[in-house]
Amino acid sequence: MPIRGKTFIADFSRLLVADKPFYNPAMPTIEIKNLSKTYRVYQKQEGLIASVRGLFHREYREVHAVNDINLTVEEGEFVAFLGPNGAGKTTTLKLLSGVINPDQGSVEVLGHVPWERENEYRRKFALVMGQKNQLWWDLPAMESFRLNQHIYCVPKDEFERTRDELCEMLNVTSLLGRPVRELSLGERMKMELIAALIHKPDVLFLDEPTIGLDVVAQHKIQEFLKAYQQEQNNTILLTSHYMKDIEALCKRVVIIANGSIYHDGSLEDIVDQFSGDKIVTLQLHDDRSLEAISKIPNLIEIDAPKIKFRVDRDGVGRVLSQILSEHAVDDIVVEDPPLEEVISNVFSQAEEKGRREVETHS
Ligand SMILES: Nc1ncnc2c1ncn2[C@@H]1O[C@H](COP(=O)(O)OP(=O)(O)OP(=O)(O)O)[C@@H](O)[C@H]1O
Ligand SMILES: [Mg+2]
Repeated sequence: MPIRGKTFIADFSRLLVADKPFYNPAMPTIEIKNLSKTYRVYQKQEGLIASVRGLFHREYREVHAVNDINLTVEEGEFVAFLGPNGAGKTTTLKLLSGVINPDQGSVEVLGHVPWERENEYRRKFALVMGQKNQLWWDLPAMESFRLNQHIYCVPKDEFERTRDELCEMLNVTSLLGRPVRELSLGERMKMELIAALIHKPDVLFLDEPTIGLDVVAQHKIQEFLKAYQQEQNNTILLTSHYMKDIEALCKRVVIIANGSIYHDGSLEDIVDQFSGDKIVTLQLHDDRSLEAISKIPNLIEIDAPKIKFRVDRDGVGRVLSQILSEHAVDDIVVEDPPLEEVISNVFSQAEEKGRREVETHS
């Protein structure tokens, strides 16, 4: 009997330690400090002679995929992590998931250091990569879900409840028995999400979850993610090249370019700061004013009696009061440019800054 008592005490203390190791709820959910990751890539020379020489003397080049980034994400935030191709988004998410090790810096997610790969951490996060199939290709998705249930030690009742809820939300219950290879891209993506959520992770890293999907499927996944996040209050970092995803889901946007964080702020801030212009559409009372107004700089289109043009943000009031004093106008719409355009401006500015920095250092 004393042995049993001792075992119980030992197990109990292990459970206590294993449960929430060092996580202080007052700390941010994700805390990244001075994180860097450099890849060493083989530089293949052109031409036969250079190729043969390369067999004996390999030349390497360094790619600073992530370069001294700092980022803090609080519990329940849904953050867009945007940047041009090759900016370092996937590398950052891999570092946060412990798939790769950094060269420098520290990361804590829920009090865990990802690359220590503790089982306790694995049970708390999920990484979904739209470009990578993580399900068993020849088996029905149901089997992959079951496998995840065992890997993450999810009790049977809880597993079934979560699976049924998610399948219903994503409307894929009837597809559970079909081999994954027979599913469409959108159907497969939904299954990928369910597989990733079976263990109810607190933190989700979503790397282009809507890539290649048609607008309807994209919209369904957006709706699902929004409802799911609101219900579970999990912390999500999302990368996507579709601005509709960002508009629908994220209040905060972090922009990375050349491995460095270029901007971190609310979506509205970005539009205010980087859109430069406003788009003005006037519905003229009749076509007589059209000719005079069409001489305005930055004309976009004329669809009589409507005319659309761009005006510098600071000049909207002045330009409109001048037009209204001279012409009869039935309706006025003043809008921000499309988010795609704004973000593309930010990317160009960020890349330009990166190029200038490289030039000054070389
Ligand atoms: N395994 C690797 N070996 C060598 N270089 C790599 C490796 N993975 C990524 N890189 C390089 O690191 C840089 C950042 O890549 P990363 O995949 O993080 O970009 P990304 O922001 O996710 O881009 P995208 O929008 O195209 O997915 C790129 O220059 C890329 O070529
Ligand atoms: Mg990527």
